[in-house]
Amino acid sequence: MTNTKVVLACRPTGAVEDSNFNLVTEAVAPIKSGEVLIKIEAISLDPAIRGWMNEGTTYIKGIEIGAVMRSFSAGKVIESKNDAYGEGDYVEGLLGSQTYAISNGEGLKKLEMSAGKLSHHLGVLGMPGMTAYFGLLRRGKPQVGEVIYVSGAAGVVGSTVGQIAKIKGCTVIGSAGTDAKCDYLLNECGFDYAINYKTEDIDVKLKEYAPKGVHIFYDNVGGETLDIALLNLAQGARVVICGAISQYNNMGSIQGPKNYMKIVTARGVLTGIIVFDFVQEWPIAVKEIATWIAEGKINVKEHIAEGLENYASTLKMLYTGQNFGKLILVP
Ligand SMILES: NC(=O)c1ccc[n+]([C@@H]2O[C@H](COP(=O)([O-])OP(=O)(O)OC[C@H]3O[C@@H](n4cnc5c(N)ncnc54)[C@H](OP(=O)(O)O)[C@@H]3O)[C@@H](O)[C@H]2O)c1
Repeated sequence: MTNTKVVLACRPTGAVEDSNFNLVTEAVAPIKSGEVLIKIEAISLDPAIRGWMNEGTTYIKGIEIGAVMRSFSAGKVIESKNDAYGEGDYVEGLLGSQTYAISNGEGLKKLEMSAGKLSHHLGVLGMPGMTAYFGLLRRGKPQVGEVIYVSGAAGVVGSTVGQIAKIKGCTVIGSAGTDAKCDYLLNECGFDYAINYKTEDIDVKLKEYAPKGVHIFYDNVGGETLDIALLNLAQGARVVICGAISQYNNMGSIQGPKNYMKIVTARGVLTGIIVFDFVQEWPIAVKEIATWIAEGKINVKEHIAEGLENYASTLKMLYTGQNFGKLILVP
């Protein structure tokens, strides 16, 4: 049996390039006692991968040169020498961007397939969905009648944040980079307002849509977007820093918030979220989000690409806005 894997060939200096990766094939090793062999069926491509390609450590250590590209992946157990997993079980974990993975069970999650299809367990029911749920509910703390602005709104995190905020009785404003994405937010996700940040002035639009300011700013983008949002806070606002995708290709000289004193005048809170801090509670959130999906309260959009040979071009989509929905690679 042959495993095909994408490995890190060298670290990018700016945007990701094809030359940063190599495609390697090797024989699949026999599994040992306590291990399982998994045939990977879906690979999650997440914005954080760009950060993981850097040397050093943030909340997680950078990928070593020559190592398989780190990713949440999901698939089927095809051989097991671990009592906790049987052949045919569907599982998910940090299994890498490859066709087969061997796991000793550490960090491996058995999937409840009745909650949603495999790709959903990497998106709205997986790490990004958990980020939206806990980032909004625990850090943003939405109250009925409040106004929330979410940037990067058409992605899996942003669209889930906005839709949960609607469920919680908020007025929801989202920004995204194309008219098609804005239409999706308004017509399929039930957002109240959508801003195309490439053709419209976010500051002007926020003043129009939220004349009394925003109570929650859920930021996936950072940079200039964060600065503009800080100018539009309501009293007692919560600013949730979830990500800063506009900065990921240039973390050496990040564009920081120059308007941070607005937190003072708003008597606000600037707070961060790391989804892994809530891992013990993920099952509760999976259940609740699956229920909302079944009730038609959360719309799920996925962007499925195929072929490990297309890894680089697919990953690049995240940083250019070419993906429309949760980006999944079928190996
Ligand atoms: N803190 C945590 O624990 C945690 C966990 C998971 C994810 N996150 C963060 O959540 C955010 C969203 O992740 P996701 O998986 O839902 O990705 P996503 O939104 O599906 O994909 C990334 C999107 O970012 C937008 N983008 C790219 N470059 C941009 C730029 N320069 N300025 C503005 N927008 C840009 C693009 O959409 P447009 O077409 O709209 O530009 C692109 O489609 C990311 O920042 C990610 O790092 C944080």
